[in-house]
Amino acid sequence: METNKNYSRLTAAEVMHMINKAIGIFDSGLGGLTAAREIMEIMPGEDIVYFGDTGRVPYGSKSKEAINKYARQDARFLKKMGVKIIVAACGTVSSVAPDLSDELGLPYTGVVNPTCFTAVNATKNGKIGVIGTAATINSHSYKRRIQEKHPEFEVYEQHCQLFVSFVENGLVDPDDELVRLMVKRYMTPLKESGVDTLILGCTHFPLLAEAIQREMGDGVTLIDSGKETAIYTKKILSEKGLLRTEPNKGEARFYVSDTPADFEKFAGMFLKKSSLENHVEHINIEEY
Ligand code: DGL
Repeated sequence: METNKNYSRLTAAEVMHMINKAIGIFDSGLGGLTAAREIMEIMPGEDIVYFGDTGRVPYGSKSKEAINKYARQDARFLKKMGVKIIVAACGTVSSVAPDLSDELGLPYTGVVNPTCFTAVNATKNGKIGVIGTAATINSHSYKRRIQEKHPEFEVYEQHCQLFVSFVENGLVDPDDELVRLMVKRYMTPLKESGVDTLILGCTHFPLLAEAIQREMGDGVTLIDSGKETAIYTKKILSEKGLLRTEPNKGEARFYVSDTPADFEKFAGMFLKKSSLENHVEHINIEEY
């Protein structure tokens, strides 16, 4: 449940002040780094503040109340860090929690809308698969969004909560027997339904893209929610005149709610770097 409100109420001076602020991104853990990586790639001059709620991951198996509370705390932390936009780089938050833009007084986006937009343009046979966490699939957020505009499309949903634990523990090698068996087990019903497009509706899942692609076959187009959200974030910033125009190195700061060690260990894998050079800081998210 996400929309993006109009911030044309900002004065020219306020816009100038906001341009140089960072892009705030949050997720339950490491998954949102798939969106962060794409944001860094397509907007290299932008600064980034990333928060991974590693002390409370996974979100996908939690209640709606818990997810709402966590989303608000995560977003409030980023607001306090002085960001110009908040990206809920988490399929679960985007599916379950409301749009927080009014509450925060900041542009805000989740991953569902941009991902659905790309998926409906990609399908040729009108059969789209969606995989996500249990909370995401139970909310039917992607299915509702797609069928709002295209009631004729068939949408097949499958929750893959177990994928999150695999990814958070670095188990993503498509040649690993355990990974292969797990992916096969969850993908079989979707394969049988004949989908030609598959939404990776959780930002953790692009790490398993190769294993999923092998199982589904080359004829199926995978849609990466992290990537689509990065493209959409750029569009919002550009429309609001909030994209940086002057040269900037593009710094990234990372914060987590558990010990930084595990995050540091696996973040490089998500960012497609050999290691994470940046400092990772622990914060107490319950204070927000
Ligand atoms: N990365 C998240 C998502 O996109 C959350 C995974 C989880 O915490 O269960 O849904």
